[in-house]
Amino acid sequence: MSFRDDLAAASDWAATYLEGVGELPVVPGVAPGEIRAKLPATAPEQAEPFAAVLRDLDEIVVPGLTHWNHPRFFAYFANTGSEPGVLAELLIAALNVNAMAWATSPAATELEQVALAWLGDLLGLPAGLHGQIEDSASTSTLAALAAARALRPGGAVVASEHAHFSVEKAARILGLPYRTVPVDDELRMRPDLDLDGVTAVVASVGTTSFTAVDPVPELAARCTGAGVWLHVDAAYAGAAAVCPENRWCLAGVEHADSIVVNPHKWLFTPMDCSALWTRRPDALRAAFSAHGDYLASSEGALDFRDYSVTLGRRFRALKLWTVMRCYGREGLQALIREHVRLAALFASWVEADPAWEVSAPCRFSTVAFRHRTGDNEAIARRATETGELFVATTKLAGESVIRLAIGNAATTEDDVRRAWDVLRRSVG
Ligand SMILES: Cc1ncc(COP(=O)(O)O)c(C=O)c1O
Repeated sequence: MSFRDDLAAASDWAATYLEGVGELPVVPGVAPGEIRAKLPATAPEQAEPFAAVLRDLDEIVVPGLTHWNHPRFFAYFANTGSEPGVLAELLIAALNVNAMAWATSPAATELEQVALAWLGDLLGLPAGLHGQIEDSASTSTLAALAAARALRPGGAVVASEHAHFSVEKAARILGLPYRTVPVDDELRMRPDLDLDGVTAVVASVGTTSFTAVDPVPELAARCTGAGVWLHVDAAYAGAAAVCPENRWCLAGVEHADSIVVNPHKWLFTPMDCSALWTRRPDALRAAFSAHGDYLASSEGALDFRDYSVTLGRRFRALKLWTVMRCYGREGLQALIREHVRLAALFASWVEADPAWEVSAPCRFSTVAFRHRTGDNEAIARRATETGELFVATTKLAGESVIRLAIGNAATTEDDVRRAWDVLRRSVG
């Protein structure tokens, strides 16, 4: 078989999978070690045909996968690798360029600059920010806090008690003390912070559990006055700002020092793609600039390796650029609006049933809710065991709460209605 034949088989496989993923159980019913036991312990001595890989994919691997591309994947922050994103990933692999420096692939560096300027514009960010793509929000936040530390070493990192644990992890890696601040009734970080001995404050726009939005304008005013770096973690909810009616959530970011938004969470770009912007690229450079004799600097151009943890960098800009082109501003807005509508509709069903309650304000496409008297962990587990959907739980004031997060381009009102039916039948 030629590469062209195998490519055709792989693209057929991908199209068939994406057409049928909604019929598969979202979460597999497998035990730890079960998949591994079905596979040989060592690599083959002789080359195998690609068809053998596809066969094992069908027979062994896919039955052991949780299908993140399933329209009823509602756990964590649901995401979707859209069709334009899938196509772009193929092209990225075919090109296999390394954007570590401008000279190592000029168009890859410049496309990254263009893609981040376009995305910043779509989200209403100020023009002229330095933007770069990282693998994950964890890495973006680590980079931002390393930049903050380069300007003000030794102080603490401060964030809401509901901030994502990647913030604490980054502080730990950087050897900075970490402090949390309590939240108010709407689960937002209180802005009356003591900024003495603080290197950076991290504000969350869309906390992981309840999508609360910290008061960025107030925090920015305090941080600017005290010379403290303000990083905004908008990994999930920042995407909402493609719609003007949601722009409120990014109010004040023009005064922040850095902001992260993950297109792989709610902007239809396949894993992995995290966008980091800063108005202080010199601080990133101070943290990361490094030189090897074997790698010259590019004259008059930007070398991303000087702004980031890694040297080698995938050509992620190509998929983000492809997604923005193939959906357009209007296409992205339509999807985000539909997800917000579906979440509000689901929340209205929960509210209308006296046995259930919505646990936190629903601002975006995620609803946190609970059965008033039932065991919510058991309800989520039983519902997920049906194979019809996947929901996960979190804790609010010690109580378990179920989260339904909508983020898949293929999710319909029928899917959300089916989820509500399954959840109600799972009360036990
Ligand atoms: C608000 C927030 N920040 C950061 C992260 C970490 O994202 P990543 O998996 O890209 O490191 C998450 C993950 O869900 C998140 O919800």
